[in-house]
Amino acid sequence: MASKVTELTTYKAYLAGEWKASSSGETIAIKSPYLRETIGLVQAVTRNEVDEAITAAHEAQKSWAKLSLSERGAYLEKWADELTKNNEEIATAIMQEVGKGYSDAKKEVVRTADLIRYTVQEALHMHGESLRGDGFPGGSQKKLGIVQRVPLGVVLAISPFNYPVNLSASKIAPALMAGNGVIFKPATQGSISGIKMIEALSRTGLPKGILSLTTGRGSVIGDYLVEHKGINMITFTGGSDTGHHLSKQSAMIPMVLELGGKDPAIVCDDADLDVTVKSIMNGAFSYSGQRCTAIKRVLVNEKVADELVARLKAEVEKLKVGSPADDSTIVPLISDKAADTVQGLIDDALAKNATLVTGNKREKNLIYPTLLDHVSQAMDVAWIEPFGPVLPVIRVSSDEEAIEIANKSQYGLQASIFTQDIDRALAVARQVEAGTVQVNGRTERGPDHFPFLGVKASGMGVQGIHNSLISMSRQKVTVLNLK
Ligand code: NAP
Ligand code: G3P
Repeated sequence: MASKVTELTTYKAYLAGEWKASSSGETIAIKSPYLRETIGLVQAVTRNEVDEAITAAHEAQKSWAKLSLSERGAYLEKWADELTKNNEEIATAIMQEVGKGYSDAKKEVVRTADLIRYTVQEALHMHGESLRGDGFPGGSQKKLGIVQRVPLGVVLAISPFNYPVNLSASKIAPALMAGNGVIFKPATQGSISGIKMIEALSRTGLPKGILSLTTGRGSVIGDYLVEHKGINMITFTGGSDTGHHLSKQSAMIPMVLELGGKDPAIVCDDADLDVTVKSIMNGAFSYSGQRCTAIKRVLVNEKVADELVARLKAEVEKLKVGSPADDSTIVPLISDKAADTVQGLIDDALAKNATLVTGNKREKNLIYPTLLDHVSQAMDVAWIEPFGPVLPVIRVSSDEEAIEIANKSQYGLQASIFTQDIDRALAVARQVEAGTVQVNGRTERGPDHFPFLGVKASGMGVQGIHNSLISMSRQKVTVLNLK
């Protein structure tokens, strides 16, 4: 059982190796989505403090990049150990700040320590390549190319609220291992969790200045960070609108964007419905559907639709609804505004004659799990990302129709296909516009060493540990012209 609310603390920002209050004198109150009370205050840093942090990062990066991979890795290994040691404190912060079930919050911390350790090992085994000059017509054996990877400089890491530790470390760890400096801007609702994570990192004795934690509202300090000439790469995870805005603000630097999704579960008429129901339930409703990779629509063959909907209804009505401190699956959403969005989608669908199978009940920012059947393409819930516990069922007559509707979405993060015919699964997977297609499983980012990417409005570039190390470094070619 998680401990009660921590006493109100005013947290400091971590700027050029020092924990300090911002000269702005401004703080941001962080309100718990389920306790509905302020659980802490974080700094609203100034543009000058951003400048100082970036300058310090460039200075520290010179010697940081000269450390061996093992020396850099030793800091990160200690970081993973510190996170593991302080799991309960950090998990409590995650739970209180973003309303994630306590067990899921503890799993997030464990997953993060594992990610950091894997990142160290992956970096240690990235060896570059050598090229023979005579590999190309007319080339000479006396020309030997050596290709290595070198850091980019200073990486700006911006993370979302729903995995305030894991999705931040999934940027910070590879950035540091690749030899970069880091400016970390957490989601405001996620800042306390981010601070606790960086407190753990600072306890490793990390060289001062190599990483700064700049808390503050993205709408206030975000553009200044993104447009800053001292930033050499941006790795962003968040909503598609925000990501699209960033992509227009930054100039001529590499950027990786992991954005929104509207992942379909395509259920064929030969699907194993035991597997299908289990995957859809977990994929659509865990953490109240506040996952980018949540299943956000079901495209089911009409031949099995009645049975599937009946079985989903039974499972939805068993979902635990309540406090994250009791490990409920359905918890209050991150904000009242988020709940308004979800309720609006439900209201629109019902007004356009969707069938309410179960749900459509709200208590402040707690939305009860809602299953809608006979959803048409005229309804907003067919297309808009709810980031909440509402699941629309769209009935289709063929795989081709399912693919057509799946691909009509502006999003292309992941998709699930349920069938017992592998050839059919691969045929559908080939045609679905998505970064990842899951066969007979829920849509999900993990395991974290897999490539993770979205296409269309779901993102640009690739995450996942190996790809993150690649995206936060560049090739350096040295050519030996031998006698
Ligand atoms: P968000 O509102 O887009 O915020 C994401 C981050 O961007 C936050 O740190 C936010 O800071 C910052 N930000 C806001 N405006 C900015 C600006 N002008 N310049 C720079 N940074 C700015 O997203 P969210 O509500 O935290 O997360 C939910 C969304 O993220 C959903 O759409 C979800 O699908 C997506 N997401 C995608 C993935 C993925 O891996 N593909 C993972 C998780 C979430 P503030 O918090 O201060 O506004
Ligand atoms: O929304 C966060 C995204 O990265 C999903 O992660 O592991 O829940 O699929 P996961």
